[in-house]
Amino acid sequence: MYILGIETSCDETAAAIIKIDEKNGSIKPLSNVISSQIKLHAKWGGVVPNLAAREHLKNILPVIQASLTEAGLTKDAVDLLAVTHGPGLIPALLIGTNTAKTLAYAWQKPLLGIHHIEGHIYANFINQDYRKIKFPILCLVVSGGHTQLVLMKKHLDYTLIGETQDDAAGEAFDKVARILNLDYPGGPEVAKAAKKWKSPTNKTLTTKHVINFPRPMLKSKNFNFSFSGLKTAVLYFVKKNPEHLHDKKFIQQVAYEFQQAVVDVLIAKTIAAAKIHKPRLIVLAGGVSANHELQVQLAQAVAENLTDTDFSFPDTSFQLDNAAMIATAAFFRQQKIGSKNDLFSNWKTMSTKANLNL
Ligand code: KG4
Ligand code: ZN
Repeated sequence: MYILGIETSCDETAAAIIKIDEKNGSIKPLSNVISSQIKLHAKWGGVVPNLAAREHLKNILPVIQASLTEAGLTKDAVDLLAVTHGPGLIPALLIGTNTAKTLAYAWQKPLLGIHHIEGHIYANFINQDYRKIKFPILCLVVSGGHTQLVLMKKHLDYTLIGETQDDAAGEAFDKVARILNLDYPGGPEVAKAAKKWKSPTNKTLTTKHVINFPRPMLKSKNFNFSFSGLKTAVLYFVKKNPEHLHDKKFIQQVAYEFQQAVVDVLIAKTIAAAKIHKPRLIVLAGGVSANHELQVQLAQAVAENLTDTDFSFPDTSFQLDNAAMIATAAFFRQQKIGSKNDLFSNWKTMSTKANLNL
């Protein structure tokens, strides 16, 4: 079957076609088109919801058309439409959901609303044999809006076992980037600066400060997180040394120390939760899953601390917001719903929710 996914929850207008082959359990993306609005929002230092909506409106139909063309298909081949219906920025979400609802009506196709984070989790199974997925799965969800540990005992079954009490991990990266005068979006820029500090070719360490950023809630007995105190610690440290903001090495070191503090906490909590819940697989999900240090260090921690637990993170093309992940999640949701629900009438009833829970 062919599923057309649509995603407009934040600042990427995305559409993708995935092909499901039930005979060999394959989930194959035939296209994964993403139109990014990074340049538009960069000068504001963050996403402006109404500007995002205007851009989505301009781009959504060409992006959907491109996803069909790239897949070599016409609308007639599409078996199911899937769209992110929350959580996210309402003006942005509305463009995706209203487009999907209109197409579902005009094309007379079934339609499913998908949770954005569910999509990020299912990004791990693109290009995999879905018959081999083993449960329970522990998901470390780390995006711009979410930081959660979620336990899945089976498909589409989510138990929240911990979450951030304040800032999300990606949000902390973005805010620290702003403190360090780095470009938007901040996560990749902080990671790039941190990598330069660690690089073995970086032999000209002119400023080596003693930095001990906190590891918030590391010792707490639950699986919750907190990153706002860490961000404030970075702010105070930089404020104490404002003249160094012109020094690239200083910025690189602060970025490195901040990133390591975040990674330490994320890993410690994930491993502690895994020791109790004994998952067969740990997955990373959300934009911060693109962080190389998090990928490498978590892989190492899983190998050292857990037996019989695998670890995965999505392929590069599916780590940040995309629509292939939405289409993939829709396949499993459609399988679960079966014929119990009339997906052909969803174009009438589907609503958009800014704070949708998993
Ligand atoms: O999932 P995503 O694309 O959008 C949301 O659903 O929020 O995640 C975006 C977040 C941003 O905060 C961005 O700075 C962060 O992911 N991010 C990173 C990296 N790449 C993206 N954070 C750390 N290291 C990265 N390499
Ligand atoms: Zn996302």
